[in-house]
Amino acid sequence: MNEHLLSRRQFNARCAAFALTLPALSSISSAQPAAPEPLRRMVRFPDGTVVPAVGQGTWHLGQDRHPVAVETEALNSGVSLGMTLVDTSGNYGRGRSEQFIGKAIAGRRDKISLVTKVEGDEVAGDGIARACAASLARLGTDHIDLYLLHWPIPSAKFPGVVAAFEQLRSAGKIRAWGVSNFDVGQMDDLFRVPDGKRCATNQVPYSLNNRGIERDLLPWCAQHNMPVMAYSPLGGDHHLVIGDNTLKQIGAAHGCSAAAVALAWVIRSGKVIAIPESGSPEHTKENAAALSLQLTPEEIRNLEAAFPS
Ligand SMILES: NC(=O)c1ccc[n+]([C@@H]2O[C@H](COP(=O)([O-])OP(=O)(O)OC[C@H]3O[C@@H](n4cnc5c(N)ncnc54)[C@H](OP(=O)(O)O)[C@@H]3O)[C@@H](O)[C@H]2O)c1
Repeated sequence: MNEHLLSRRQFNARCAAFALTLPALSSISSAQPAAPEPLRRMVRFPDGTVVPAVGQGTWHLGQDRHPVAVETEALNSGVSLGMTLVDTSGNYGRGRSEQFIGKAIAGRRDKISLVTKVEGDEVAGDGIARACAASLARLGTDHIDLYLLHWPIPSAKFPGVVAAFEQLRSAGKIRAWGVSNFDVGQMDDLFRVPDGKRCATNQVPYSLNNRGIERDLLPWCAQHNMPVMAYSPLGGDHHLVIGDNTLKQIGAAHGCSAAAVALAWVIRSGKVIAIPESGSPEHTKENAAALSLQLTPEEIRNLEAAFPS
């Protein structure tokens, strides 16, 4: 007998010392070898919170653009593939987007980072607390992970908004807060307000065909160690970038779609979170591929030549 092979009895005797038996080992070895988890790109906030670099937008979901069962499958397959950050707003479809999400994620809330928004015309008095309560009810949850002011308001109102956000944070109704569509001047004004530096992110448009923030806001956020959340990362409904030949060629080389390449470009720095929207399960699967797609410096150069800033 080959001296490296042991009988079952010899093997069990030797394993006994290690509290192992052949049946126990065979139950391990007969299991399918676990597929290696793909490396997924993540973004870390200064408070230590880590989210996937590609999440999911939901502006038009729950509003009959696709059948609700199809949109539910799209959102949930996206979550299963790692796109666990879900962006919505109290005003998307007058609350229908939030209601759709609340139903779609029931039972798996703990897996998801929920981002929603309050409008500038809701901030007076206790308006932010009331808007937040309404969003919590529609989403069917007791807390929001990230609560954003949807559009800028006059800077004189920032202290009241920050104080209201901080009260919600102390009460555990929101975990963090941020802003959306702010320019550099508005960010500077916000940072001068007490607790204004607690702003977690600025959600702004950013895609290959909309690179304006590279001039000023992106460097400002990098300097202040603030991740940026990129909306309309595929160019948005009416200006989708995915028909471009350079994107298609790079996608073919990596075995993924043009959309995945466009998203991989948006998140290339490790400091940007892209939130593409899709109500199609096929599209969410394509988009999730961006989480594990690393573009080469040459591919990035070619894309930036095809889509000049
Ligand atoms: N803060 C703000 O002011 C603001 C403004 C705009 C948007 N947003 C947020 O950002 C999210 C995304 O922005 P967006 O909807 O404007 O633009 P987007 O994500 O760039 O584009 C969405 C469009 O792309 C299509 N699509 C998605 N994946 C695709 C794929 N793999 N292949 C082909 N088509 C694909 C979608 O159609 P299908 O559904 O058919 O896939 C939809 O028509 C919104 O849902 C919202 O949450 C925030």
